[in-house]
Amino acid sequence: MSHSKSIAIIGTGKVAGALGPRLAAAGYVVTYGMRTPEDPRIAALVARTGTHAKATTPKDSAASHDVILFTPPWLAAEATVKSLGDLRGKVLIDTTNAFTFRDGRDVALPVVGSAAEMIQSWAPGVRVVKAFNTVNFRVMADPAKGEGPTTIPLAGDDAAAKIAVAEIVRALPPFVPFDVGALSHAGTLEQMAMLYVSVILQPRDDAFEYVLRPRKK
Ligand SMILES: NC(=O)c1ccc[n+]([C@@H]2O[C@H](COP(=O)([O-])OP(=O)(O)OC[C@H]3O[C@@H](n4cnc5c(N)ncnc54)[C@H](OP(=O)(O)O)[C@@H]3O)[C@@H](O)[C@H]2O)c1
Repeated sequence: MSHSKSIAIIGTGKVAGALGPRLAAAGYVVTYGMRTPEDPRIAALVARTGTHAKATTPKDSAASHDVILFTPPWLAAEATVKSLGDLRGKVLIDTTNAFTFRDGRDVALPVVGSAAEMIQSWAPGVRVVKAFNTVNFRVMADPAKGEGPTTIPLAGDDAAAKIAVAEIVRALPPFVPFDVGALSHAGTLEQMAMLYVSVILQPRDDAFEYVLRPRKK
């Protein structure tokens, strides 16, 4: 059983590199699961994450943690989740959005239901919670860029898993968790992200940034 405040992060890209150091600063022991843990670029990420951080293979990092932050590109999601071994009972925080960068733009990829539900189907017994997919990695790394409290919607079918993920979100202020309901709502969250990425690269003066805000009391 892992340390109660520990987390495996699968992947070492923009999302992992934004959330890993912030989670470590919040007291989480972070273990990156990466395809080539001996890669020298990882030493820099581990060093900037914090003293207890380390890197190992995706499978070993997942095996030794109860909570997994899942950050591969969508095209690698199926192979990656299936490479992690038996995930039954573990909480998998799904950050993915189903698109790829092609010909200078982000292109949506087809999903059945939602990316989150597909991941759930590929890993029987895992407790998937959709989270963080609506936020740009720059805001994850530096929440000041969000210019105020930022809602992180959570979707999932397991109430206890969502409570655990909400606690992780609260450890990253000014992020504020909000439970939007069942995992079937993940598709809506993913479409929100798609709308954003579809305009962000367009050379338009009226393109928009957005963050979700908790309602003012
Ligand atoms: N960028 C954003 O602002 C943002 C915001 C919200 C959600 N998301 C979603 O979150 C996920 C991660 O986004 P990201 O921007 O962090 O992506 P990224 O920078 O491309 O990083 C993805 C990581 O996944 C790992 N990976 C495993 N298999 C791979 C493969 N076949 N090809 C390439 N990388 C592979 C790599 O880590 P290793 O080399 O260490 O294995 C890589 O660093 C995506 O699904 C994305 O749609 C992104």
